[in-house]
Amino acid sequence: MTRRLTGFQPTGHLHLGNLIGAMRPLVAAQDRPSIAMIADLHALTMEHDPQAVRANTLTVATVLLAAGVDPQRTPIIANSQVPEHTELHYLLECVTGYGEAARMIQFKEKSAAGGTVRLSLLTYPVLMAADILLHDIDEVPVGEDQSQHLELARTIATRFNARYGATFVVPEGIRPEAAARIMDLADPVRKMSKSAPSPAGRIGLLDPPETIRKVISRAVTDTAGVVRHDREGQPGVTNLLEILRACSGRDPGELTSYGALKREVTDAVEAVLAPIRARYAELLQDPSHVREVLARGKAFVRPRAAETVRRTRAAIGL
Ligand code: ADP
Ligand code: NA
Repeated sequence: MTRRLTGFQPTGHLHLGNLIGAMRPLVAAQDRPSIAMIADLHALTMEHDPQAVRANTLTVATVLLAAGVDPQRTPIIANSQVPEHTELHYLLECVTGYGEAARMIQFKEKSAAGGTVRLSLLTYPVLMAADILLHDIDEVPVGEDQSQHLELARTIATRFNARYGATFVVPEGIRPEAAARIMDLADPVRKMSKSAPSPAGRIGLLDPPETIRKVISRAVTDTAGVVRHDREGQPGVTNLLEILRACSGRDPGELTSYGALKREVTDAVEAVLAPIRARYAELLQDPSHVREVLARGKAFVRPRAAETVRRTRAAIGL
């Protein structure tokens, strides 16, 4: 059966897009061998707050559990806690060109933003390749922003195999379906993202109901006054319909006003998020449980990870 890796950045601002586009598919596919990985090493590639990284790693693990990830079937790991990630990272750097890394669009964008550019920002895509190749992953769900990095991971794996002998599974990137792409409520031509400049268009998974109601009631629509699917012409209304469908499983054929649509969306979102929020609050009572989940995830993935590193070292000449 195909093995899948789903990655999450350690951020306290997980949103409805993350739930619908990444966490739910992960939960739905728990009969297959999947790994949920929190990329806390990645959080060190830009100016960061040590306390926040530590806290957010736990927050993401807690939200994954609250959203229904069953750690018995889907190990949850932090890549910093499995040392083979960094060891493989170095070995893969030795088959990656400086030019290849420097050409990555995300590196160019982030390094152009000013301030000190950390060397780890340049080599981050190689770390991502290690994250994937370490666990013999077949499939990685990736959004557009990560597809170039996934291509690099494939290039590195293919090159290594050709040069030093069959060592890695070459992973495929899979696209979350178009319907799973949730857009920003304040700017519905952009995807909902934790890095949006303002939270005005984001539905946070842990936001209080009052905030969510406000964000939805202020969602940008249009002046057509017709509730219908039209991604091009009515991106705001279409996004609300997509959210409604994703949260309640139905289309509101009979709705005529945007106000009524927004009330339906608010109820549907609340029905999905309330139990997650409640479960999250319960889990917060016992943070040591979440730490244990990460420790068990690490113990579960380590034998295979160690075997991959052993294979890689032997092939490359160590
Ligand atoms: P962000 O894009 O907010 O920075 P991440 O990069 O940490 O979030 O993405 C974590 C997962 O959530 C990925 O699998 C990504 O494809 C998915 N995801 C992120 N934003 C959305 C969205 N707006 N709609 C659907 N899925 C999303
Ligand atoms: Na992203």
